[in-house]
Amino acid sequence: MYSSDFGKDFLWGVATAAAQIEGAANSYGKGPSIWDTFSKRPGKTKKGHNPSEACDFYHRYKEDIALVKTLGFNVFRFSIAWSRIFPLGNAVLNQEGVSFYHNVIDECLKRGVTPMITLYHWDLPEALSKEGGWTAFAINSAFNEYALFCAKEYGNKVKHWIVINEPFGFTSLGYMLGVHAPGQTGVSNFFDAALHTAIAQADGAKILRAEVKDAIIGTAFSCSEIIPYTQSGQDLLAAKRVDALMNRFFLEPVLGMGFPTAEWDVLEKFAVTHSTWRHQERMKFDFDFIGIQNYFPLVIKYNAFVPVVQAWEVKAKNRRVPHTVMGWEINADSFYRIIKQFAAYPEVKNIMITENGAAFHDKVIDGKIDDPERTEYFKAYLAAMLRAKNEGVNVTGYLAWTLMDNFEWAEGYQARFGIVHNDFKTQQRTIKQSGYWWQDFLSK
Ligand code: NOJ
Repeated sequence: MYSSDFGKDFLWGVATAAAQIEGAANSYGKGPSIWDTFSKRPGKTKKGHNPSEACDFYHRYKEDIALVKTLGFNVFRFSIAWSRIFPLGNAVLNQEGVSFYHNVIDECLKRGVTPMITLYHWDLPEALSKEGGWTAFAINSAFNEYALFCAKEYGNKVKHWIVINEPFGFTSLGYMLGVHAPGQTGVSNFFDAALHTAIAQADGAKILRAEVKDAIIGTAFSCSEIIPYTQSGQDLLAAKRVDALMNRFFLEPVLGMGFPTAEWDVLEKFAVTHSTWRHQERMKFDFDFIGIQNYFPLVIKYNAFVPVVQAWEVKAKNRRVPHTVMGWEINADSFYRIIKQFAAYPEVKNIMITENGAAFHDKVIDGKIDDPERTEYFKAYLAAMLRAKNEGVNVTGYLAWTLMDNFEWAEGYQARFGIVHNDFKTQQRTIKQSGYWWQDFLSK
């Protein structure tokens, strides 16, 4: 299997995010983001790691984009740090930050790499968080101003856009479970944040459509095939609830279907209290592509003690199935099935895999970074994607997560997902064996 098996127009890229790679978090006029402040709170990230230096991409973007090219990718996905452009959350513009992204874009174009911008990849300006962040309705006008600015500023050079990265990921981890920034908890915070995020997703897309000529606009959903632990009625229903939350909750409003409330009385109540029917039209957008980010399936069983969702994950290690160092099950067939699940909606016309990859403990052997598990993971997942494509699913691109080891949010720098190794003391990049595998794969 080589890249040519996917057709000559297929997009191959690596995905990254500002807070995870840039560093320079407190300099060149950048304001703090919620990840800068959250990671400084004791116990919030592994070993107290924070994104202040990360991979120092801010100073090394030229060599990193050259690496993208050397490996043979034709797309570089990166995000804009909102607080680098608007340090105080829209009140004041930081021209130095604006120029930085011009430089990154220009470097991509110079190297013949297509830039793909994510508008929001989890690093809300702290100043906006203080005003309620995603739980406050005011976030929508703030986000729209930010989106409008980016569209006008970069739209003549950048055609590929992703509005929001993993709406379910950051609203659930950051506003319900409190394990990601800004560390808020509770169902009510989650539903507030979710509604405003769903609105921002479509609003942002409409702004891009109006401002950017020939834009190719997508948004990126996390997803996982949900497998019931047994065929008992309770497990089946628990799995359905988790599926509604994790796979359908943000997708279906975009498609004009509203939130998937029919499955579950809690969602029904949310829809009533938040008058979501009023927003149904606003949450809709005909995206040029739907981004899918998949890493693992989840096996779910009923558990009466878990509030609200009454479901529990049966972990991969307890099921003794192959998994990564994150504890995520390695299961390429399930990747195939979740692609098919998304493709089954008639409104989903074009799917792009906007993230997929794996973290392992890489070994250094004779000066080489040996990571056979990662190569095997990619091979299996790509074969699964090819199978879906050959069966008629319109998959048009694949972005590997990620270019280089970086700041993995609450996991800090320990979870390494890169196809390029990064030494965080020296910032030395070393292509891993999986990176060389990609180079070969993309060359034919
Ligand atoms: C999802 C997120 O978009 C990305 O930021 C994260 O690092 C990867 N998946 C791996 O967890």
